[in-house]
Amino acid sequence: MIFRGWIATLVATTISGTIAAPSLAPRNDYLQRVLDNIGPNGKQVPGASAGVIIASPSTQDPDYFFTWTRDAALTMKMLVDEFLHGNAGLRSYLQAYVKSQAILQTVSNPSGALSSGRGLGEPKFYANLTRYNGAWGRPQRDGPALRATALITYANWLLNTRTNANLKEVKEQVWPVVKNDLAYVGEFWNSTGFDLWEEVSGSSFFATAAQHRALVEGAALAKRLGQNCAACESQAPNVLCFLQTYWNGKYVVANINTGVQRSGVDANTLLGSIATFDPAATCSDTLFQPCSARALSNLKTYVDAFRTLYTINSKTPKTSPVATGRYAEDIYYNGNPWYLTTLAVAEQLYLAIQTWSTVNVIEINALSLPFWKDVYPAAKIGTISKRSNGKNFNKLLDAVLDYADGFVAVVHQYTPASGALSEQFDRNTGAPLSARDLTWSYAAYITALSARRSATSNYPQVPSWNAPKVPKIPSTCSASSAKGTYVPATGAGAPPGQGGCTVLIAFNLNATTYYGENIYLTGNVTELGNWRTSDSIPGDAGGYTSERPLWKFEVELPENEVVGYGYLRLEDDGEWLKETANRTVSVPKCGASETVTVQDAWVGPTGIPS
Ligand SMILES: *[C@@H]1O[C@H](CO)[C@@H](O)[C@H](O)[C@H]1NC(C)=O
Ligand SMILES: *[C@@H]1O[C@H](CO)[C@@H](O)[C@H](O)[C@H]1NC(C)=O
Ligand SMILES: *[C@@H]1O[C@H](CO)[C@@H](O)[C@H](O)[C@H]1NC(C)=O
Ligand SMILES: *[C@@H]1O[C@H](CO)[C@@H](O)[C@H](O)[C@H]1NC(C)=O
Ligand SMILES: *[C@@H]1O[C@H](CO)[C@@H](O)[C@H](O)[C@H]1NC(C)=O
Repeated sequence: MIFRGWIATLVATTISGTIAAPSLAPRNDYLQRVLDNIGPNGKQVPGASAGVIIASPSTQDPDYFFTWTRDAALTMKMLVDEFLHGNAGLRSYLQAYVKSQAILQTVSNPSGALSSGRGLGEPKFYANLTRYNGAWGRPQRDGPALRATALITYANWLLNTRTNANLKEVKEQVWPVVKNDLAYVGEFWNSTGFDLWEEVSGSSFFATAAQHRALVEGAALAKRLGQNCAACESQAPNVLCFLQTYWNGKYVVANINTGVQRSGVDANTLLGSIATFDPAATCSDTLFQPCSARALSNLKTYVDAFRTLYTINSKTPKTSPVATGRYAEDIYYNGNPWYLTTLAVAEQLYLAIQTWSTVNVIEINALSLPFWKDVYPAAKIGTISKRSNGKNFNKLLDAVLDYADGFVAVVHQYTPASGALSEQFDRNTGAPLSARDLTWSYAAYITALSARRSATSNYPQVPSWNAPKVPKIPSTCSASSAKGTYVPATGAGAPPGQGGCTVLIAFNLNATTYYGENIYLTGNVTELGNWRTSDSIPGDAGGYTSERPLWKFEVELPENEVVGYGYLRLEDDGEWLKETANRTVSVPKCGASETVTVQDAWVGPTGIPS
């Protein structure tokens, strides 16, 4: 074990000349800042419902006053870990989250409804737990997996306490929510969706890694509860097999099955290693553990992509810590470093140190050597064991620790005196940018610092998720899916009577539009916004051609009902034009074999560009 004081280390980093005068002390008030962004009492987020974690209090430029399933779940995992580490006061937040998610699972939305599972892939909701109908990158398939992981961690703690009340809480409240999420992962892991940055439709390493973890620990929790997660057991090996295909021999390609042309070097992949860290695992390449040669080679490739990209990095020596962003091609707010991605580099390395300190051996191979040479120029290929070569072993760990601390120091350097962490900092000036007080930024800081404490002291590690000791991968990867069943978690607070069965209806509309004009679908059910234009469903013009001016909609509607509907044009100046036709569709009963596709052509006024 290495024991180093936080401040001493950062001073050492400064003396070696890497960082210009960073602020030295770690922040202790960030947990409160996270809680300030959670309803109903969070002081930054008035109006947010109980247990709802808001992404940022910012309501414009950008408007992040929503709850994202992913950001909320990652934040909740941090809160569960802090709770396990002894912060008993967080329990009420955990319980309120369970209830809020039970409700949210039943809220049908543009991705679908609960009965088919599809609705669980909706990325974001209003702070009051209602659906958001605006155009968005949906579905996103990492959310249910991450939520399952946060809740399974809590469920295992409840089970470990062995009290009747806690047993009841797991069985009646936590498990029914988790079960829906696991069913979703088992059914949809092999379908495309949007990545964690909500830009690329395809398959995302971060999502696949999170899905594999959720299925593995879901199977284990089911067993503990005397239940069974058949989908977890049948799908996990195929998910792990698929996960291997993101590896290109040098780094992890963040997004595959996409038409987007990018290098694939992306913080997605470091965040994936972090989210699936298991302190009981070894440095497994198959599992992309933080200390694996693959993950280290990937980390180096990722960090190097930012060395010359940002002006604020330009004076930094070639192998020193720098500010990093999401991916090099990023143009959001002109493409800047992010706090949470820079912290991810540090966190991956702190987690790696935890594993090396447990297994007491470091293997340097041809793949990881370039990483090691950056942090320790004398590094050579070989096996350095603590027992036979303790001095070198400790030197290597200290070098990694220094390097990791350097990334935290970069974050400190660009944190304003108030301590507030926004989403990004300016690539040229280092000034904070985009959404203020980003919940995920604070959560990332806390998890990074906790990982450091566990790497350098007896501070407890995060619990194991039962990662396979010897991961077995099928000899060929199969495309697969397990049909899920989805039930409202009424015991946890899901409204009774919600989540009735729905049927997927495809609407194909011929409507010639000009560039900038959009088509929406509306109707007399909640799913179609009850004729309110503001709640109507945006159409998809992905298949629009001059031969066929096609606008597509896929909506889940309540079974066995006649639904009235119509289309709307949204003009480039914000004006709505309504169709003059009265249309109805008969939704069949669930389970009817027919799939319903409606073919329509626009009837009514056409628009003119303003
Ligand atoms: C929920 O919040 C949205 C956005 O602020 C608002 O438009 C809507 O009216 C609210 N719905 C309810 C039921 O309060
Ligand atoms: C589904 O799984 C197969 C087998 O691993 C893989 O080739 C394919 O790309 C996957 N597709 C998606 C969308 O996950
Ligand atoms: C919706 O409109 C259709 C067609 O006019 C009608 O048959 C149906 O009863 C209406 N449904 C509701 C819930 O009002
Ligand atoms: C559509 O239905 C409404 C209300 O039922 C009626 O007033 C209107 O005349 C109908 N329009 C057409 C074009 O049939
Ligand atoms: C939509 O357009 C296609 C191609 O022109 C045509 O074949 C089809 O019949 C049209 N559908 C309707 C409902 O008009």
